[in-house]
Amino acid sequence: MHHFNYEQGRLHCEGVDLTEIADQVGTPVYVYSTATLRRHAKVIAAAFDGMDCLIAYSVKANGNLAVLKTLASEGCGADVVSGGELRRALAAGIPAERIVFSGVGKTRAEMALGLEQGIHQFNVESGAELIALSEVAMSLNTVAPIALRVNPDVAAGGHPNISTGKAGDKFGVPWAEAPELYHQCKALPGVEAVGVDVHIGSQIGDLEPMRAAFEKTIGLVKFLRDAGHDLKRVDLGGGLGIPYRNTDAPAPPSDYAQMIRDVTEGLGLQVILEPGRVIAGNAGVMVSEVLYHKPAPDRTFMIVDAGMNDLMRPALYQAHHDIIPLIEPAADAPSTEYDIVGPICESTDKFAAKRAMPSVAPGERIAFMSSGAYGAVLSSQYNARPLVAEVLVDGDQFAVVRRRPSFEQMIELEQMPTWLT
Ligand code: LLP
Repeated sequence: MHHFNYEQGRLHCEGVDLTEIADQVGTPVYVYSTATLRRHAKVIAAAFDGMDCLIAYSVKANGNLAVLKTLASEGCGADVVSGGELRRALAAGIPAERIVFSGVGKTRAEMALGLEQGIHQFNVESGAELIALSEVAMSLNTVAPIALRVNPDVAAGGHPNISTGKAGDKFGVPWAEAPELYHQCKALPGVEAVGVDVHIGSQIGDLEPMRAAFEKTIGLVKFLRDAGHDLKRVDLGGGLGIPYRNTDAPAPPSDYAQMIRDVTEGLGLQVILEPGRVIAGNAGVMVSEVLYHKPAPDRTFMIVDAGMNDLMRPALYQAHHDIIPLIEPAADAPSTEYDIVGPICESTDKFAAKRAMPSVAPGERIAFMSSGAYGAVLSSQYNARPLVAEVLVDGDQFAVVRRRPSFEQMIELEQMPTWLT
């Protein structure tokens, strides 16, 4: 569900014509819909209504401050994986007590920041991290509430590169080692185990692997409680998939929530969730302009002004994004096959191969649908291209929420060593 539709033949985001945004802001540009963000946050919250549940939006999916502020106003907390994301969440007004800190490689400085701010929980991923956190907390005279992220050895996720819950993945502590680590935690000062954490991957449309992992995790919670650990929370991570194509039918949030209700029922646990993609994914598109057509013996290249530095997902995960023109094609418009590529000097700079779509001429604009999650956040300045701009729409108004940097801004952190001046 999203708010990008043709109105009078022109693709709109809510009440705003995307062509107007492209004209004013230039391309490539990400455009986010406030209504879609709010709707997704509300649908998830409603699905868990009546439960003791913290919806900690996963900032890595889209950490734009305006997006975060919109979600904060819907009551979302935040799941962060760096000091930078933590500061973004706080800057957007998300209270520290609604923030969980995940990630395999927190530095001591990042731990200190989380402790000073009084965040809700640290999700700890190794014995060594547990000892470091204990030391940092002691030095600050405080106690860190922790959950160990366990690796349940369950395969899931839309692509091998986004599967995290198999033994052999770098994520979480090996299943068999978890009880011993909880035992060690009890003996360590400065850390208090309050829960168990699990996250098995992303873009998961089938609930069964999730259910298997969650049941296993709840089994561990019960085992640990019996062993004398006073666990009050379970963090079930993120990972719910979204439709990238019309034919995709990932499990709806209501089924996901029902499964979680079933698995956690009667245990008096606070359930923490870290949804990212399901909130932001379909709330954004990337708009690009067609530069050239280049016929080759066996195909036609459509060269566009966005590159893999602006939207990495196809290059990194062979991800599919629907690509549609901003000007609605006639219903009977003939379809043409294009290889849609960017200007980057890499063969992986390809958004789609042999994609059948209505013909789009140079100078026309196209939208890469479902780009709100893991789009702008993964962008870079490769090939000395300015970071892609971002726009937020709300009803019939829009605003640039990240400017495209000028050339001077792009190079301002660089300096000449004395021997070259
Ligand atoms: N929690 C943890 C611990 C995670 O590692 C992730 C995602 C999430 C929550 C949020 O997952 P979501 O609800 O968004 O699926 N760049 C890839 C996805 C990487 C996901 C990384 N971790 C992509 O574009 O498909």
